[in-house]
Amino acid sequence: MAIKNQTISFVLDGKIAEIDFGRVGLKPTHTLLHYLRSLPNHKGTKEGCGEGDCGACTVVVGEATGNQIEYRAVDSCLVFLPMIHGKQIVTVENLETIVNGKVKLHPVQQAVVEENGTQCGFCTPGVVMSLYALHLNKSKPLVKDIKDALSGNLCRCTGYNAIVKAAQKASVLKESITIPVKENNNTLKMLHLINKNKSTIHIETESKNYYKVFSTDEALVLKKKFPEALIISGATDCALRVTKKHEVIPLIIDISDIEELKKIKKQKEGYLIGASVHIEEVKNAVKKNFPALFDMLSVFGSKQIRNMATLGGNIGSASPIGDTLPVFFAYDGKIVLKNLESERTLPLRTFIESYRKTKIRSDEIITHIYLPLPKDGVFFKSYKISKRKELDISTVSAGFKLELDKKNKVKEIVLAYGGMAAYTKRAVATEAFLVGKTWTESNIMKASLILEKEFAPISDARAGDEMRRIAAKNLLLKFWLDVQV
Ligand SMILES: Cc1cc2nc3c(=O)[nH]c(=O)nc-3n(C[C@H](O)[C@H](O)[C@H](O)COP(=O)(O)OP(=O)(O)OC[C@H]3O[C@@H](n4cnc5c(N)ncnc54)[C@H](O)[C@@H]3O)c2cc1C
Ligand code: FES
Ligand code: FES
Repeated sequence: MAIKNQTISFVLDGKIAEIDFGRVGLKPTHTLLHYLRSLPNHKGTKEGCGEGDCGACTVVVGEATGNQIEYRAVDSCLVFLPMIHGKQIVTVENLETIVNGKVKLHPVQQAVVEENGTQCGFCTPGVVMSLYALHLNKSKPLVKDIKDALSGNLCRCTGYNAIVKAAQKASVLKESITIPVKENNNTLKMLHLINKNKSTIHIETESKNYYKVFSTDEALVLKKKFPEALIISGATDCALRVTKKHEVIPLIIDISDIEELKKIKKQKEGYLIGASVHIEEVKNAVKKNFPALFDMLSVFGSKQIRNMATLGGNIGSASPIGDTLPVFFAYDGKIVLKNLESERTLPLRTFIESYRKTKIRSDEIITHIYLPLPKDGVFFKSYKISKRKELDISTVSAGFKLELDKKNKVKEIVLAYGGMAAYTKRAVATEAFLVGKTWTESNIMKASLILEKEFAPISDARAGDEMRRIAAKNLLLKFWLDVQV
């Protein structure tokens, strides 16, 4: 009988650290935040909201890709410990250095001090880590890059001007922000050493079984054996079930480190996007050919959330306010589902059946999402209405497609809405009315009268039903204003 592998390894403080779950008595759903705070020298990572909303817990994760290490800022409160296996964790304590027996602040920290970028200081370690990740990834960040990097960091007392100024100042000191070659090579060696072993990690505690797999086949074998198992990819949705709702999830299959699901293949006719590709990476890849998707992903959560959340997870959650589905409806995206025996591809437009219910079978996982390249002369737009621009979920969202004929008449139109029903839904009656009509304001106004009767949205903390109906109509009008030929 194979010996169960219950140990995870990662790089922390410049060396390989291990957690043997069989010995230490930690649950696999213990978060990285709580683990770090249990160590004597990592209490700089703060706990604020515990649900991805404040960024106080931000750390930087390094991942080896070939001969490079890619760094991204994440919220450690949403990371289950096995998810850090094979990665480097950088916390605020790792930034300072000791020179001649004295603590020397990192240039990012120094700039925050000099620009008065901190008052009570609670948010500051998280802010520093977000800026550190920014500077590792961009040599001369613009103000918009700085604001984007800080989109997941809530500061209640300093005000962001001083923090933005500090970030600009730090960028002038770029040389000292780069990780020294020797240190980088050492880390790379350690990461390669850990990642050589790709055998499944199976952590078993009294009430839980957690499998971390490294191939699609392994995931499918387990899904066939345990159809009730919960798949996790970025865990930004699932972690909240544990940390906020205190649910005990008995069986988890963690697919976050299956290489083939983390790739985007640009094909002749479209893009094949692995289900475990992070939203931030998808955003950057689709900018040119799928601008409406780029726009939507630009206001998805925060930088930290986009660095963790995956496309497969967004579709898998089938949330009525999930941001990607309306846009995928517009682009006519397809979903690739696989079980051990076969693979099938379905249009996303028909994948969602009812509230959080999809056509996925209990032995299947989502492996890819396919986006066909749009034809020339077809218009796509996406819109998101939320209470804040950043780090907020949609009240109403939309993904629209329009094809006009030479006489300015509607040949095809797709009006897909989020937040207007129990699941992402097209305004089919409004679409049917508009087909064949001239693309004029008067026809849009007539279509609006149909649109307002087509949905029966709910009232909740975000908005009343009436507001949602008005917003849906206004988005149609905005679409008309945005598409003037
Ligand atoms: C602070 C915060 C802000 C957020 N902001 C937004 C936002 O602006 N817009 C938005 O749409 N969402 C938002 N979300 C929700 C969430 O981040 C997204 O839905 C995200 O895309 C989920 O991806 P994940 O990989 O983290 O999913 P996970 O939590 O890993 O999984 C989510 C669901 O999908 C299933 N699943 C995951 N991968 C697969 C697969 N390959 N095959 C089958 N099933 C799978 C899981 O079983 C689970 O049911 C936010 C969440 C937080 C905490
Ligand atoms: S503690 Fe607020 S984002 Fe993690
Ligand atoms: S310095 Fe007080 S919350 Fe930012």
